Amino acid sequence: MILVMGGAGYIGSHTVKHLLDNGYQVVVADNLIYGHRAAVDARAAFIHADLLDPYSLDQLFNKFEISAVIHFAAFAYVGESVQEPQKYYFNNVQGTLNLLRAMLSHGVKDIVFSSTCATYGEPVYTPIDEKHPQNPINPYGRTKLMIEQIFADYERAYGLRHISLRYFNAAGASADGSIGESHNPETHLIPLVLKAIKGECKAISIFGTDYDTPDGTCVRDYIHVEDLALAHRLAVEKLKDYSGCINLGTGIGSSVKEIIVAAEQVSGKKCPVEYGPRRAGDPAKLFADNQKAKTILGWNPQYTHIQDILRTAWNWEVNKRY
Ligand code: UFG
Repeated sequence: MILVMGGAGYIGSHTVKHLLDNGYQVVVADNLIYGHRAAVDARAAFIHADLLDPYSLDQLFNKFEISAVIHFAAFAYVGESVQEPQKYYFNNVQGTLNLLRAMLSHGVKDIVFSSTCATYGEPVYTPIDEKHPQNPINPYGRTKLMIEQIFADYERAYGLRHISLRYFNAAGASADGSIGESHNPETHLIPLVLKAIKGECKAISIFGTDYDTPDGTCVRDYIHVEDLALAHRLAVEKLKDYSGCINLGTGIGSSVKEIIVAAEQVSGKKCPVEYGPRRAGDPAKLFADNQKAKTILGWNPQYTHIQDILRTAWNWEVNKRY
């Protein structure tokens, strides 16, 4: 059975569905602070557990026969991590140490981990491959890098098998419309653009138009959440002969303005726009070299057109259940 920590969250819930669709048995553990109980597939077992409560973790490993863990459970607001680093270091780093202790004491040595392109910091070159220097510029990115480093030490000392998946910008929703993105507060570009189109907020504010990019707005690599889910299954299956870090992106960059145009195309409606200053800590361009994921995992992202990603996001945004 696979334990999915944080399986009620955005990427976690899509991975749970994908694992179940592919014949895996799954137990989801989540503290439901940011996750949604309604996002958890009814075929999965569900346990309310918190990484900062070692007793609840022990009970989990006692109750279920767990062969591998996929670990999504983390706080992930970059801005908040600057204001409240303690919250991030405790939950993300201490929480993962607790999880690792529970795993090892129950003989579980396989983990797939949600890492991020934020571990690279300001890019020195693009596309970003896994050898790119890692100099995160905020506490959130530093917590993820620390965990990657902890895994390498635990591999040497305890034989931990680990794959850290460094996501670029997760986007979209399940093709069948059953689950999707729902953050509170919402800070991400695509859902905010769609909400502006729906009239739920006045306008989307474009953070900076004077970047060194073709249209002056920031370029990001938007990767569909179902492609991320697939990569997690492939990573679990690969743990027996590989440990390390792997980028997950399409390798294609889209600017903020291109996202707005694509959203207008798929919704058939105009997006109200206003222009604001740059947001602190936003690099001009981030996109992945994804060759390693292709070679090591045999992974190939299916969603390579931004309109197709936006179409699933729009379908979710107008029909969302939570
Ligand atoms: N943006 C706007 N207006 C908004 C929101 C975002 O113009 O209202 C722009 C941002 O400046 C950025 C792009 O849209 O250029 C994407 O912003 P998001 O907030 O959607 O995503 P980020 O690239 O900032 O963040 C993502 C992940 C983080 C991760 C980070 C690494 O969500 O978890 O990539 O850079 F840390």
